[in-house]
Amino acid sequence: MVLLSQKAIDPATPELDDFLSQLQGNILKGHGRQYATHIFVAFMPNKVRKTRAYLQQFADQITSCKQQLHDAEVYRRNGVSGGTFYSCYLSASGYGYLGYNCDEFKDTAFKKGMKQASLNDPAVTTWDHGYQATIHACFLLADNDLLKLNAATNNLIGELAGRKEGNNRAEKIQEASIATILAVEHGNKLYNKKGENIEHFGYVDGISQPLFFKDQIAAYKSNNLHPLLHTPEAELEVALVKDPFVSIRDADAFGSYLVFRKLEQNVRGFKMAEAQLADQLKYRNEQQEQVGAMLIGRFEDGTPITLSEENGMIGSAVINNFNYQKDTGNKCPFHAHIRKTNPRTNEQQAENHQHLIVRRGIPYGNQYILPEFAQDSFEQLPQNNVGLLFLCFQKSITQQFEYIQQLANDPHFPQTDTGIDPIIGQDGLQNISKCLFPNKYAGKERKAANFDSFVTMKGGEYFFAPSIAFFKKLL
Ligand code: HEM
Repeated sequence: MVLLSQKAIDPATPELDDFLSQLQGNILKGHGRQYATHIFVAFMPNKVRKTRAYLQQFADQITSCKQQLHDAEVYRRNGVSGGTFYSCYLSASGYGYLGYNCDEFKDTAFKKGMKQASLNDPAVTTWDHGYQATIHACFLLADNDLLKLNAATNNLIGELAGRKEGNNRAEKIQEASIATILAVEHGNKLYNKKGENIEHFGYVDGISQPLFFKDQIAAYKSNNLHPLLHTPEAELEVALVKDPFVSIRDADAFGSYLVFRKLEQNVRGFKMAEAQLADQLKYRNEQQEQVGAMLIGRFEDGTPITLSEENGMIGSAVINNFNYQKDTGNKCPFHAHIRKTNPRTNEQQAENHQHLIVRRGIPYGNQYILPEFAQDSFEQLPQNNVGLLFLCFQKSITQQFEYIQQLANDPHFPQTDTGIDPIIGQDGLQNISKCLFPNKYAGKERKAANFDSFVTMKGGEYFFAPSIAFFKKLL
């Protein structure tokens, strides 16, 4: 049996076998595939029994955490892919549809759903059409082979929405359907020249994550010699809660709350504003990069600005062993995205972990070449239809994702007049961050500057990733 206070778990431990077989993959470790499809559905009225039956048989397809770890090991040893990854998540409305009482869930944010959240989000009527409706479930499929993923996606959509092939007449199609497809999002990883994962503004992403497995923590410790200023080692309870609808005899059935947000990135706007700000603050040429680093908290190559004023200056750019204890905002401004979302205070204390999230997002939209300093090539950069499919797992959406997003929106966190997070902050008005920047040419004096937000929330929902045992017992 597993205890949620456990850290650094070893998947080879026989006592963890049941726990890892019942848990969906992608929670404790990312599925790692190159491409991912996210299918959002509303189940059809009066098809509850059929839907339950469908989901029950779908359980056999879901990739468990145990299977995912096994596939990753096979891939590492001999390069053979584990094939398509499958998972399924339910919203509070989805549980209600299936006949479950959501009072069993402790997380109030989950029960209310994202449309009712107090996050200064744009009005629901401005979200992409599919997300304006009531969403019951999300299916996530992922593969390294795009053709195989597309085939698996079409097959699943066919099963959910009714096949249109053969001699089926309209009524037959209707009879076969259990769900309306509300939205389908295609994620694909982006890479920099060194082969590291980046997001659309060009920054290495996915560096700082809570780590749950013994081998990950051992690798972190051997790559970061003492003193350890930041310890990503996390208790299982950062991400997991007991599955409320599986009896206590199945003690090892756990799930996790999932936040999904489609965040559109205006790359052209961001890059132009970055250059204008550099001009205003009198940063020239290579130093322009510092302005971006002061918005994110890391240079494009991942170098934390609190450790170095230049990218690539500290050996491994993707370094994560740092905190802000000695930085009063003169190196990494308090408004910087990574400082707002994880201030890294009280590092050694367990309460610091209360607000950590496990990020599993993936970019969407095509990759293009980002210009280095050539201002006239900004025109070719996209203003819409690209961005981040933001996903994060946690044990409480209220205490983790919503807590972080609200701090990002708070211009007075951690200090008065810090400004909102210039990447994801939303002030409910124009989303302009009035930030203080360290001014290189004026000693320690800081200069105030405005920075518009170039990320737009296009829709989303809160889900729960049930245990595989839950799906198997649906009928
Ligand atoms: C389009 C939107 C976003 C972009 C472009 C973006 C970009 C980045 C980048 C480049 C990093 C640094 C690399 C890393 O440590 O992994 C980062 C870290 C992080 N982001 Fe975001 N992000 C976005 C949305 C969000 C949202 C919505 C949240 C949560 C509300 C969030 C929370 C975090 C956290 C917690 C970290 C790690 C901070 C740390 O531990 O140092 N991000 N993000």
